[in-house]
Amino acid sequence: MKIPIQFVINGEKIELSVPANMTLLDMIRQELNLTGTKKGCDEGDCGACTVLMDGKPVNSCMVLAVDANGKEILTIEGLKGNNGDLHPIQQAFVEVGAIQCGFCTPGMVLTAKALLDQNPTPTEVEVREAISGNLCRCTGYKKIVEAIIKAGEYLKVKGAENE
Ligand code: FES
Ligand code: FES
Repeated sequence: MKIPIQFVINGEKIELSVPANMTLLDMIRQELNLTGTKKGCDEGDCGACTVLMDGKPVNSCMVLAVDANGKEILTIEGLKGNNGDLHPIQQAFVEVGAIQCGFCTPGMVLTAKALLDQNPTPTEVEVREAISGNLCRCTGYKKIVEAIIKAGEYLKVKGAENE
């Protein structure tokens, strides 16, 4: 049985019918073809599937697609500017060398966005706490933490320019 739902994803309104047991992750990847959201463990452990739901990071493999009904979802594809510019968080990841394997990066970037939206000047401890659900199996977190702190500075400058 399929259930009709509607939601907004990356600013676009979507109406869709989905199986009751389909995860939000599978809907994003298979139905919407937004493959920037990665499937790592598929059991809530790695954070590779992180998306923002009403501004909060969720492991989309642990959320049912039907739970997206009426919600606003942001995936990594929705972060770019109108002319395709990188988001300041992505810019900072590139500059600092925090783009490592590419598999964990979308989840890390979105978790960073949720953190910086709430707390534009996080300490290293706060950053490490925020990304504690996003696992990196290869090179570690040093560059990622550095990039998120730098992104906070970029966003502050951008905010000041827009005032
Ligand atoms: S794929 Fe969802 S937490 Fe790992
Ligand atoms: S898992 Fe992505 S850089 Fe380590």
